[in-house]
Amino acid sequence: MHQSAKVFRPDSEPTILKFDPDRQRSGKSQSDEQTLGQFIPLVYHYNMLQDEDRVGAFRAAIEYLVQPGMRVAELGSGTGILSSFAASRGATVDAVERNPELIKCSRQFIKANGFEHQIRVIAEDASSWTPSEPIDVVICEMLHVGLLREKQTQVITAFKENYRKRFGRKLPIFIPEVSILMCQPVEQSFDFSGYVASVPLFQAPATTHPRTKQVAPLVPYQTIAYDQVIPTTMRFEQTFEAELKAKVNAIRFVTQNVLAIDMSQQQAITWANQCLVLPLESPFSCDQHETIRLSVDYETGQSVESVRYHASSIARHFRGGIRATSA
Ligand SMILES: C[S@@+](CC[C@H](N)C(=O)[O-])C[C@H]1O[C@@H](n2cnc3c(N)ncnc32)[C@H](O)[C@@H]1O
Repeated sequence: MHQSAKVFRPDSEPTILKFDPDRQRSGKSQSDEQTLGQFIPLVYHYNMLQDEDRVGAFRAAIEYLVQPGMRVAELGSGTGILSSFAASRGATVDAVERNPELIKCSRQFIKANGFEHQIRVIAEDASSWTPSEPIDVVICEMLHVGLLREKQTQVITAFKENYRKRFGRKLPIFIPEVSILMCQPVEQSFDFSGYVASVPLFQAPATTHPRTKQVAPLVPYQTIAYDQVIPTTMRFEQTFEAELKAKVNAIRFVTQNVLAIDMSQQQAITWANQCLVLPLESPFSCDQHETIRLSVDYETGQSVESVRYHASSIARHFRGGIRATSA
């Protein structure tokens, strides 16, 4: 099992966005593109190359699923590293990327690694691109905790629609196959060297963090299988049983991605995103076994700031689990 990531993906990154008349015409605001993780600066791509948990998990999944002679598409290919793993297995790859700087540098890296005859870098928006021939495997890593910020859900949904129009109902295999979105109430220290600031925090996806006290176990609020209909509205109410007496002042979001299921080893190849801890506007105290009610509402691909959430204690002993599922 691959766990944890070392590299923090930017959350308020400077932008390298250039004036784009097409985007102006499409009505997408530049600020939307700038604040969300659509145009990740090169320096973060270099960090992503170094993230051995991320790269190792994707490599294992690609090596397991891609066979010689297959056709592979990578949506959002960045530096081209994941495409190179598919090419190493003997596949031909369409690497679709829309950031001009990455298109240029990935072509250089691909050539330097000797894959220029197997990997074609296609300068397009992956949500409007359709391959010329059927594809066996699609790789798409636009993953962010809660599927916020990056457009994983929107890009794969658009790709599937375009693909089915051209090739019929049968879809390729997707890497990742599934994303599991979970959350839990926590007691979080927002004390930074004596300076208190209740701000959203990102954490490595380990189970224990000394500054975070888990008040109730994680529960899944959505499981997304990329070959099925992909929901984009995450709206749910959930109840939790407090495991201990605590001051609940934040909600932690955890996203686990199943990249592939290796049947020979009976093991899932997984990679978890950074966790997100969101402070509560109105913290509250609760006793052990008390019920905590949480409501959450957001759209995937939108900013962290767009998440609406509220939690409170219902001073009674826990009786149920999930009250309502995601929309
Ligand atoms: C998180 S990075 C991953 C890059 C690469 N797959 C890797 O694993 O190193 C996501 C990439 O998707 C690209 N991207 C985002 N939206 C896209 C779109 N609609 N069409 C094509 N590329 C897109 C970004 O420019 C970025 O390079």
